[in-house]
Amino acid sequence: MNILVTGGAGYIGSHTIVELLNAGYTVIALDNLVNSSRKAFERIAHITHKTVEFIEGDIRDKALLKKIFANYHIDGIIHFAGLKAVGESAEKPLEYFDNNVTGSLCLIKAAVAAHVPHFVFSSSATVYGPEAPVPYQETMPLGTASNPYGQSKIMVEQILSSTSAAVNNFTVTLLRYFNPIGAHCSGLIGEDPKGIPNNLLPFVTQVAVGKRAQLSIFGGDYPTPDGTCIRDYLHVVDLAKGHVKALQASVRQQDGQVHIYNLGTGRGISVKEIVETFENVTAKAVPYTVAPRRVGDLTAFWADPSKAQQGLDWQAEHTLEDMLKDAWRWQENNPEGYGEN
Ligand code: NAD
Ligand code: UD1
Repeated sequence: MNILVTGGAGYIGSHTIVELLNAGYTVIALDNLVNSSRKAFERIAHITHKTVEFIEGDIRDKALLKKIFANYHIDGIIHFAGLKAVGESAEKPLEYFDNNVTGSLCLIKAAVAAHVPHFVFSSSATVYGPEAPVPYQETMPLGTASNPYGQSKIMVEQILSSTSAAVNNFTVTLLRYFNPIGAHCSGLIGEDPKGIPNNLLPFVTQVAVGKRAQLSIFGGDYPTPDGTCIRDYLHVVDLAKGHVKALQASVRQQDGQVHIYNLGTGRGISVKEIVETFENVTAKAVPYTVAPRRVGDLTAFWADPSKAQQGLDWQAEHTLEDMLKDAWRWQENNPEGYGEN
């Protein structure tokens, strides 16, 4: 089966391509490299001994999409391409809506025109909104997002649901990720954020490797056992395997419906637990200060992952220690990431 992976050079995309190739799929990757490096594909080839057809380009380029669907018989799409920095999205809303919403719209239209039967979308736990009780369950209604990044995820979920309802044989899977961290155990691919990392783990590993002086823990006065926020961190390889399972389920069902799954562990971990466990498993110090809360952060959320367990036969298998060791191996082996930032 030929799978088009948009955003395939990125953090989650590159790990998913490894799992797709291992499972025997043929992968065509489309990425404009705005937040990634083509070197990811050399590393993927090293890990899998298989090659990916890489097309450098933008999901908003309608002529390119038409060409891709004319040249390849695409059986399914996994759509990762998008911008993901929450703070930046508030400063540049139009850029985010254009990239994430208009871009998705271009891709969905081209997919429907080419009669692609399976479409898997990278959504986020952020769509549940601040009012949702924990653990988050897929039966809960979509919430409201306070930033354009989150709003773009809600919009694309809605666009895909309406499209699936109107178009015959267009099976959609919305995967709502919790907090992916870690890296492939080879240490060859991993998260390589441009500039100052927004997310916790790349910041922690950059402090440990000496690129940054100290971590700021955003808020020490939350109503949690140690005062810091709680999230559901899952290994990026588990997340990648969830995409393969989602695609397999979509092919099995072939029902033209929308399927929604949380991909998380079901376990909440605090920021301080992350730092302490990282120090224990790597023997590297992570100096930190407790800084003011970050605007928009929620106190605590985690997944109810039981639907994915039942519907996809998927569950997260790696421990927190695995995630942190693997994140460190990637950072230690590649202090400058892919070396292009
Ligand atoms: P990433 O930035 O590493 O990967 C995204 C990829 O998309 C990059 O390679 C980038 O160059 C590419 N891209 C962006 N705009 C494009 C465009 N217009 N055309 C073609 N390529 C484009 O991010 P990631 O962490 O791998 O995230 C992948 C997806 O998962 C994103 O949609 C993100 O919003 C979603 N997601 C990520 C997280 C997370 O914590 N990392 C959580 C929830 C959801
Ligand atoms: C963030 C986004 C979320 C998005 C996800 C993936 C916000 C508010 N949410 O999730 O919408 O889907 O990234 O891109 O940005 N932390 C620190 N110090 C740091 C960095 C983070 O203490 O330098 C803390 C945060 O306060 C949070 C936890 O670490 O409690 C995790 O933060 P982060 O990795 O940014 O993920 P989320 O905020 O959960």
